[in-house]
Amino acid sequence: MADLNVNGKTHQVDVDPNTPLLWVLRDTIGLTGTKYGCGIAQCGACTVHVDGIAMRSCSVPLSAVAGRQITTIEGLAQNGALHKVQKAWLDHDVPQCGYCQCGMNITNICRCGTFQQVRAAIHAAAASA
Ligand code: FES
Ligand code: FES
Repeated sequence: MADLNVNGKTHQVDVDPNTPLLWVLRDTIGLTGTKYGCGIAQCGACTVHVDGIAMRSCSVPLSAVAGRQITTIEGLAQNGALHKVQKAWLDHDVPQCGYCQCGMNITNICRCGTFQQVRAAIHAAAASA
């Protein structure tokens, strides 16, 4: 059993400690906003924050993050209010297929090539700080 703190809530998970965090989040806890893309820490679709640092959850074992603060895309909005980055993303029509967006709000590669919109949205979010 390991204690996993995700988006401010502690989950007790009975999973092999070598299991990548991505699969614990998706298959054990049911938070499917974090996506599988490449599985080799390159694309960023699986990115989450661990103690405020962006990490590729496909390549981080459960044993490395037990007891640390994990934030997924589901944890960005607070009390029903979108994070300013999420709001800027909507205002600038960044998402196309949407698959990369969970990681894109943290760090990522977008196969739809929305980088111009991403740039505009980042500037807007920074200006609203
Ligand atoms: S799935 Fe591509 S970096 Fe993790
Ligand atoms: S990969 Fe489709 S929106 Fe980024």
